[in-house]
Amino acid sequence: MENFVLFICHINDIIALTKDLKENNVQFLVTEDKEEIDSILNNRRPSLVLVKDKPDDPERERLVEELVSKKGYEYLIVFSDNASVERAKKYLDLGAWDFWISPLLFSKINVFLEKEEKTNVKDDAYDDIEKKIDTVKIIGEHKKIKFALALAKKVAPSDATVLISGESGTGKELIAKYIHINSKRANGPFVAVNCAALPENLLESELFGYEKGAFTGAYKSKPGKFELASGGTLLLDEISEINIALQAKLLRAIQEKEIDRLGGISSIKVDVRIIATTNRNLKEYVEQGNFREDLYFRLNVIPINLPPLRERGDDVVLLAEYFLNKFSKKYGIDTLGFSNEALNWMREYSWPGNIRELENLVERAVLLSQGSKIEVKHFLLDNTDFDIEVLDGDREDLCEQEKKDNLNASEIEFDEIIPLEKLERHMIIKSLEKTHGNRTKAAKLLGISVRTLRNKLAKLREEGLTL
Ligand SMILES: Nc1ncnc2c1ncn2[C@@H]1O[C@H](COP(=O)(O)OP(=O)(O)OP(=O)(O)O)[C@@H](O)[C@H]1O
Ligand SMILES: [Mg+2]
Repeated sequence: MENFVLFICHINDIIALTKDLKENNVQFLVTEDKEEIDSILNNRRPSLVLVKDKPDDPERERLVEELVSKKGYEYLIVFSDNASVERAKKYLDLGAWDFWISPLLFSKINVFLEKEEKTNVKDDAYDDIEKKIDTVKIIGEHKKIKFALALAKKVAPSDATVLISGESGTGKELIAKYIHINSKRANGPFVAVNCAALPENLLESELFGYEKGAFTGAYKSKPGKFELASGGTLLLDEISEINIALQAKLLRAIQEKEIDRLGGISSIKVDVRIIATTNRNLKEYVEQGNFREDLYFRLNVIPINLPPLRERGDDVVLLAEYFLNKFSKKYGIDTLGFSNEALNWMREYSWPGNIRELENLVERAVLLSQGSKIEVKHFLLDNTDFDIEVLDGDREDLCEQEKKDNLNASEIEFDEIIPLEKLERHMIIKSLEKTHGNRTKAAKLLGISVRTLRNKLAKLREEGLTL
């Protein structure tokens, strides 16, 4: 809905407001002419109608009644120069949303418009829906992922509930989408709710919706995600985070295929396929009494477990190449691929953030390498100490200096006394080598702060190193 206010009053009644309205990009029209009002309302639907009371003109009351009851303008507010309880009651009985005393204040209107935007569910609720998921590309040759995919494909056409488990970033949502597009519901909506992201009372209204007036701030009724997903798939992400009370309602919704909006008086039938994901061991959670067993069994009809990336062997290389290609295209950078060391590093790394982490690292490496081969150093930057010069400068130059000083690692014998300064330089070089130029990690190894390391490097530069 557009941010459009219709004022039914004389222009003088709102003259003081016009500056604020314009500055805040609120569109508005002012008229008292019935024909004009009709023609405006035929073409546009205002988010708010403000009507000036006219105690001596019964037409005004009829107009309010018509707009509210026949045309369904819920957000119609009457304002008046008279603080009359009787007039207020009259309009409220006719269905006006509120009764305000002149002068109109922009802050009051604005609060209302902001609320209107926030609860304008039709629009923002649909933003969450990926209306059409064309393709889902799932890369992987390892037998564990092949097995998971085969299972997903097999169960996709049925309406069976699927529980996808796996560590963070292993592709749970991707598999959920894959199931959706391979199901009979592919043309229906795919709606995802992250159960961990919302406080419990909000999550409840998000899932089941509410009727106008169900709680303070429920300015109008709002369908829940169950209703929005009707005919399609509802993804309940991080299901373990739903509290016990809400679990009972969820169980009922899944079993009975109907939901109750908050403050609603009758149940609403919903036709959704449920896919849930978890990165916890839900069974253990049940044993600990944190998750209802009956709900667990309802959800776990088809369990799909996604392996962590570190258990997927050479898939890490396949995925890395896939992301390399993707980001090279995205940024228009021709890369020369990965160096052997980089490939080995990827094979050895434990990938706690799984595929998402790999994707992020490759994206960053593509940008940093700027067309050269991707090396380990392009992966090992620490966001908190991003320092580009260390990539190409410090390590090599310091090594040069080390050679000049004839101070190789093998030459250090600890029963031999060497100048502390030299020892320090040597240790700095070693730490940078070990951490592939990462200053944060190097500083940690040296037991000094990054700032101190930086100062020491600056000093070395002053001493003649060409950095
Ligand atoms: N097999 C795969 N092939 C290609 N891309 C993948 C694959 N698996 C995951 N991805 C990509 O990795 C990223 C993380 O995947 P996704 O969001 O599905 O993980 P998740 O398990 O839901 O993570 P979380 O637990 O953090 O919610 C996404 O960008 C996804 O497209
Ligand atoms: Mg996810």
